[in-house]
Parts: sequence; C-alpha cells; structure tokens
Amino acid sequence: MPSFVGAIDQGTTSSRFLVFNDEGAIVASHQMEFEQHYPNPGWVEHDPYDLIDSTRTCIEHAIRKFEELGHSVSDIKGIGITNQRETAVVWDRISGKPLCPAIVWSDGRTAETVKKLASKSDKGTEAIKDVCGLPLTTYFSGVKLRWMLDHNDHVKQAHDEGRLMFGTVDSWLIYNLTGGKDGGLHVTDVTNASRTMLMDIHTLKWSDQILEFFGFNADILPRIVSSSEIYGQVQGGSLNGIPIAGCLGDQQAALVGQKCFNVGDAKNTYGTGCFMLFNTGDEAVISKNGLLTTVGYQFGDNKPAYALEGSIAVAGSSIQFLRDNLKMISSAPEVNVLASAVKDTAGVYFVTAFSGLFAPYWRDDARGTICGITQFTTREHIARATLEASCYQTRAILDAMNADSGKPLKSLKVDGGLTNSDLCMQIQADILGIEVDRPRMRETTALGSAIAAGFAVGIWQSFDQLQSINAEGHTIFKSEISEEDRNKKIKGWEHAVERSFGWAN
Ligand code: G3P
Repeated sequence: MPSFVGAIDQGTTSSRFLVFNDEGAIVASHQMEFEQHYPNPGWVEHDPYDLIDSTRTCIEHAIRKFEELGHSVSDIKGIGITNQRETAVVWDRISGKPLCPAIVWSDGRTAETVKKLASKSDKGTEAIKDVCGLPLTTYFSGVKLRWMLDHNDHVKQAHDEGRLMFGTVDSWLIYNLTGGKDGGLHVTDVTNASRTMLMDIHTLKWSDQILEFFGFNADILPRIVSSSEIYGQVQGGSLNGIPIAGCLGDQQAALVGQKCFNVGDAKNTYGTGCFMLFNTGDEAVISKNGLLTTVGYQFGDNKPAYALEGSIAVAGSSIQFLRDNLKMISSAPEVNVLASAVKDTAGVYFVTAFSGLFAPYWRDDARGTICGITQFTTREHIARATLEASCYQTRAILDAMNADSGKPLKSLKVDGGLTNSDLCMQIQADILGIEVDRPRMRETTALGSAIAAGFAVGIWQSFDQLQSINAEGHTIFKSEISEEDRNKKIKGWEHAVERSFGWAN
C-alpha cells in the first residue's frame, strides 16, 4: 500500500501544499502568492483570511493534481504544517474572527514598544533573554501583541474580557482547519512558541514571569505541543478527517528537511529573509555574539533539540524590491542576468536594511543604504550588490556562530529561492571561504514538516531511515577568490553597514 504525507507551507509571500511519497519525493503541489500590505513605512501586514484561504486553495488544487495521477486521498496518512514565524494573529474566541490585521515578523512599527519594555530592566534589551533566549526587538510576536493591546481598543477589550485568542500563523491555521469557532484547536508547536518571547526556553512552558513583564493574561495563549504528534483531524475540504500530525516554524522545518540532526549540523535558508540554524543538541546555548537561542525540533516525548540562529530580515524580498519598487527587473530570475553581466559591483554595497538590521547587528534604527556609487555605476552593479547583501550578512552570522560554538563550520547546507541562482551561491562561497552545499530538491522546509508528520503517523520510525532522501545530486560551490580579496570585500561591507545606522528614530 503506498503511503503519502502532505505539507502545508504557509510562507511570508506565498502559501503552498505539497504531497510527498514515503521516499520523500514530491508527487503533487500547488503554490499561490497573496497580498502584502504596507500601510506605513516599515509596516508589514497580512490579512489573516488570506493566510487560511490561500492555504485551502492550494490544498484543493494540489489534491486535484494528486488524484489525476491516479492516487487516492485516503493514502495520505497525515499532514504537517510549516509557517512563517513570529507573525502575530489575534482573533475572537466567540466569533472566531480576526480582531485586526496580522503584524508580520519583519514589521518594524514596534520600535517604541521595545524601548518602553527595555526601560523596565537594568539589562535593557537583554531583560528576558536568559529565560526566552531572545533579545527585545521588533521581530518577536510578544512585542507585536503588546503593540496591538496598546493601539487597538477591540484587541484590548477582548483581552480584558477573556475573549482574546493569540497565536502565530501555525495556531491560526490549525484552529481554522480543525473547525474554527466550532471547536477548533488552539495549539502551537514548541518551535513556534520559542519565537513569541513568552516561552521559557529551558522548561518549554509559558513563563509567568514573562507574561507579567508584558502584561498578558495566560488565557489568550495556545497549548504548547511537540513538533511531531497527532494534534487533531482536518474538518472539511478534500483532506476531511486526515490527521494534522506535524508542525514546525519554517526555519526549523528546513533544519529537519536538511537532516541536520547532529550537534554541529547547520543550514541556511534564503527565503523572504535568510536564516541560519546550528544544531546545539539538548543544550540551549545562550549566545554571546548576537545570535538567538531557539528550539530546533521536538519529536513527541523525546528531548528537544535546540539551535543557535542567525536571522537576516531581507534576502529574497530585496529582489522583489528591485522588481516591484524600482522596476529594475520584470521577474525575479532576471536579477541573475543583470548581476552576471558585470564581474563585480565596482565598489557598490547595498545594505538592504529596509526595516532595521537583525543578527548579529540588531539595529532597529538602520535603513536601506547604497554606498560607493560613481558615474560608472549601472543597474547591473546594483543588481549584483543586492545579491551580495545576503551573502555578506550570512558571513557575519557565520563568524558569530563560529565564535559561539568554538567549532568553525567547514561546509554550509543551503536551500530556499535564492539558492536557485548559481551566481549567488558562487558569491556566497567566495565570501564565506567554505563550501556551500546545495541539494537537488530545495523544498526542504515542506519536507521537514512532512517528516515530522510522517514520524507521528508511523511512515518513518528513525532518522536513519531518512538517509537516502534527497541525498543524490548535490552541487558543491567552492571559493574562487583569495583570502586577501575576501577580507577586502568584507571590510567594505562593514564600512557600509556602519553608514546604514541611525536613519530611523
Ligand atoms: O522568522 C521569519 C521566517 O520564518 C520567515 O521565513 O521563508 O518567509 O523568509 P521566510
């Protein structure tokens, strides 16, 4: 009997649904973009209905393709969910309706909220880092929820009357897929919970101390569950009755999909943003170099695996910026055509700090800055500098990770949209000075959530069984420049980064 497992991948700019077979190969899939809302500079919002509606549409289209291939839905043993993280959604317990737009992870409106919260402690932005593993910044959901309570009377009233339900995108999807106001589950997996700032990273429970710090009632929170177990069944649609059995934030899902199960394994995913995760095993290592401590995954009752994370806010979205804002290209892949028409950027650096800089800089006040322009500069140079920006930030994170772990990485596993560009991956290897290892199948985020669900429903029982999945056809990129040239380029980048500070606030 064939066994299949489904994966919902609800990302920042698009949703998708994929069906994998028990060898980890994609059998059917569907993807669609949904609208981004930028109501003010630095603000990014999603309509919560777009998130669930686009997910449902993708499920229906992919299942139709799956059935057209002669397969039967009853052979899908379970589905996993993976999602954009930190994006905060609030809805009403009675009506099941959202109370305001979702504030997206990259939204920078909460800079003042951060200042206020930081002023409550002598430790400033490190006020609760020992407990939750994260510094106070605009990035995390707890800060966004505080902003909503302070600026939206409906949200405040619902909170005070015990009607408020809060969640990251996984919670909102699971709630709706399992029945919504008619008994929908209010849960979140431990990896997503670790991005709210509200969970004690050591006990994996909501922290009373932090709830008091933020001023939140505990009844608004979802129940924390593991990344791999049967949470409930889908109600309605083509997947009616199929267990939802896996859930991970998208970056943690990529860690699983890249099979980074050993201490010291690391991956870097170039999506809307770019996120490097380094498996630290059962130890929650608190970074001294600007990285985050996060939960990597927890399968059922097993011990969790922790990770150190370096987060870059802008990667693929910088290409969208060239396309949609500057109209410099008409499709994303065109950036490669422009960038490869020149041999270098002719001294141009583009610090893509559209809403501040994340790791390892953590500067809310940074803004996008292009340095080194001369009369010689062309759009080809700017295109190349845009690709390089993600590569330099990745280098800064790698340095921080090597310093924290004391064990320099020799090779970096990569995935995500930008890795389709050979040029970008060659630049990445040049700037890192270590090997860059790209798998043939790059839907590793969806694969990770499918693996989590597959374990819960018995398709796989041990990580050893996954060895052959996506093992063939890797491309390895190696540096083609000298150490001297690399250091010179990095120095230029650091100079440009300093120029990006202080533009906001
Ligand atoms: O933390 C934000 C992250 O989850 C977003 O991922 O793939 O949309 O860049 P992505």
